[in-house]
Amino acid sequence: MIQEPSKEFQYSRGLEGVISSISAISRIDGEEGILIYRGISIESMADNSTFEETSYFLLFGKLPTKSELDDIDSKLKKNRVLSNEEINWIKNFPKDAHPMDALKTSVSLMGMSDPSGWQEPSEANREIGIKIIAKLPSFAAAFDRVRNSKEIIPSHKDLPLAANFLYMLHGEVPEENNARVLDVALILHADHGMNASTFATMVTSSTLSDLYSSIITGIGTLKGPLHGGANERVVAMLKEIGSPDNVEEFMMKALEERRKIMGFGHRVYKAYDPRARILKEYAKKLKGKEESVLVQTALKVEEVMLRELSKKGIYPNVDFYSGFVYKHLGIPTDFFTPIFAMSRVSGWVGHVVEYREANRIFRPRAIYNGPIDLEYTPIEKRK
Ligand code: COA
Repeated sequence: MIQEPSKEFQYSRGLEGVISSISAISRIDGEEGILIYRGISIESMADNSTFEETSYFLLFGKLPTKSELDDIDSKLKKNRVLSNEEINWIKNFPKDAHPMDALKTSVSLMGMSDPSGWQEPSEANREIGIKIIAKLPSFAAAFDRVRNSKEIIPSHKDLPLAANFLYMLHGEVPEENNARVLDVALILHADHGMNASTFATMVTSSTLSDLYSSIITGIGTLKGPLHGGANERVVAMLKEIGSPDNVEEFMMKALEERRKIMGFGHRVYKAYDPRARILKEYAKKLKGKEESVLVQTALKVEEVMLRELSKKGIYPNVDFYSGFVYKHLGIPTDFFTPIFAMSRVSGWVGHVVEYREANRIFRPRAIYNGPIDLEYTPIEKRK
């Protein structure tokens, strides 16, 4: 028996269309395909900013002055150095663990070493946030080295965050272009309105839990293929298709079987995702035979999808083009989602700090549709 909700509450599966909070951090216009961070278009951020500056902007609400930027930059550099204790933890992680689980556990271990976890006023929490933003790339790169039985590369003392991540992963200073492509990808992923993982971090924080716990919740939520995990599957799908010539048949069959095509569709965008448009331009410039086949295959997939599904408001999302940009940078496929986490953590911290300033615990309701008048049956009488 389904109990009707009272008139006061409305039911929305997946909370679609429900307004959960007020925020000045980012705005998506899904109909027009526009994303802005605190008033500035994502195109302008990608063209002009760096991930360090974007993080400051999302956390503090204004573009930094030169000295403020130097300050966050030096904090990020100082805090990214792993301690011997942290290195030992990572060496003991199971080598076949998913890197998102390794990241979650790393943040959990950071939290265990910092029992304060949440402090008043907000300023202190932003500082904790900066520590987490600084450490995630180091944890991720160290885990990849360890699981491949390679020496951990300590962080470079001068390189910016994106370049330093590639350095710690591969053991050599990356080409400037490659470092910039990753930097842009980090800028593009840093915030995106009230998405599932951001909401999850806020739910955890709204109980007055600590910032580390919030970020762990965010990482766990981002891991799923309907959210951050889609780009891993895009590359797998493109490889399965094999060549642009096979696209038409593959796609028509997949659509006939009503398969969800990874990297397409979005709860909010019913137009082209502006982040996908930016990454597509970078993807088209990638050099290398394998990259070229992947890009040509992807462009053909996009063509078929637009022909078949754009009338339903289904367009490429950011995950469609991010995967093979990362692949070109030599990043292992199961690290695509951790890179998303390394970036989105700035948005998570921004939202959690913002929401805590006028906190109210999240406590939605559910419609009960089970029985209501059963008698308790003693165990010996149960069938
Ligand atoms: N491929 C094929 N059809 C799709 C699709 C996709 N990627 N995304 C949505 N659709 C179709 C659904 O089958 C459904 O069709 P129907 O109305 O005929 O049943 C309709 O579009 C609405 O889809 P729905 O899943 O209800 O939308 P949603 O808002 O709940 O889901 C996503 C949004 C992102 C979860 C969904 O588009 C998806 O699963 N995309 C693939 C995963 C992905 O790329 N995620 C990254 C997001 S940034």
